[in-house]
Amino acid sequence: MSRLADKVAIVTGAAQGIGAAFAHGLAREGAKVVIADWNDGTATADAIIRANGAALYVKTDVSSAKDVRAMVAATIEKFGAVDILVNNAGLFAKIGAKKFMDISSEEFDQVMAVNVRGPFECAKAVSAAMIKQGSGKIVNIASSTVFKGVPNLLHYVSSKGAVVAMTRCLARELGDYNITVNAIAPGLTMSEGVLGQPDYTQGYIESNMAGRALKRKQIPEDLVGAMLFLSCSDSDFMTGQTLAVDGGNVMH
Ligand SMILES: NC(=O)c1ccc[n+]([C@@H]2O[C@H](COP(=O)([O-])OP(=O)(O)OC[C@H]3O[C@@H](n4cnc5c(N)ncnc54)[C@H](O)[C@@H]3O)[C@@H](O)[C@H]2O)c1
Repeated sequence: MSRLADKVAIVTGAAQGIGAAFAHGLAREGAKVVIADWNDGTATADAIIRANGAALYVKTDVSSAKDVRAMVAATIEKFGAVDILVNNAGLFAKIGAKKFMDISSEEFDQVMAVNVRGPFECAKAVSAAMIKQGSGKIVNIASSTVFKGVPNLLHYVSSKGAVVAMTRCLARELGDYNITVNAIAPGLTMSEGVLGQPDYTQGYIESNMAGRALKRKQIPEDLVGAMLFLSCSDSDFMTGQTLAVDGGNVMH
């Protein structure tokens, strides 16, 4: 049985990586999916359509309020509603690890603009439609680094800490409208972003795996089940929570 038949979902950053896996997972459950990415997301959209799903790619920079408003308007124009928002777009692997003293003010601001202001802009832009229809599901993608305080990525880890905090604030403000807001904290995941970044050496990946209860590599598909749970009615009485999906590395 399709858990999300006729629902409309927006996934930011779905041109590749974890976001693309989310888009395919939502489509398999019957949702119509909007791929909102500043890079070309037609491959994800076309693959969903080829599998008899419904999808639309809308070029969007999540840190631009104007882009985000236009993307939500395009979603409603094409599919008539917005039921689910997965705030996945983020700057991560390409940032490159460095000591906090070496992070420039400009780089700090850029990471915050995409990873914190992006989900804020998207939540703001979908809220009017969700409030009007009296339901909605927002799933924010944080990171398990928040619970470990991983060094040499201070701007990134701080941005994802803000996502956990934002999830709680949004849950409180949107609860009266039957909108749930939860987050997923993934562990180190073999997305295109990570696989293309030489900082993530075999040694680094193996030492990360050694800290897990389940000692294997995490792949984007490992996150799809939790995302679908938080996007469907199975999680209707759960809000403001952050689920760590990282093979049992952090336990909180
Ligand atoms: N891969 C990991 O190990 C890992 C771990 C924890 C959390 N995460 C989080 O999961 C999410 C996805 O990560 P990933 O590894 O799949 O990344 P990725 O680099 O493979 O893909 C990220 C996607 O986001 C898009 N994007 C980036 N900035 C954008 C912007 N301003 N507007 C619109 N689209 C934008 C990119 O174009 C890309 O398609 C990120 O929020 C990341 O922080 C990843």
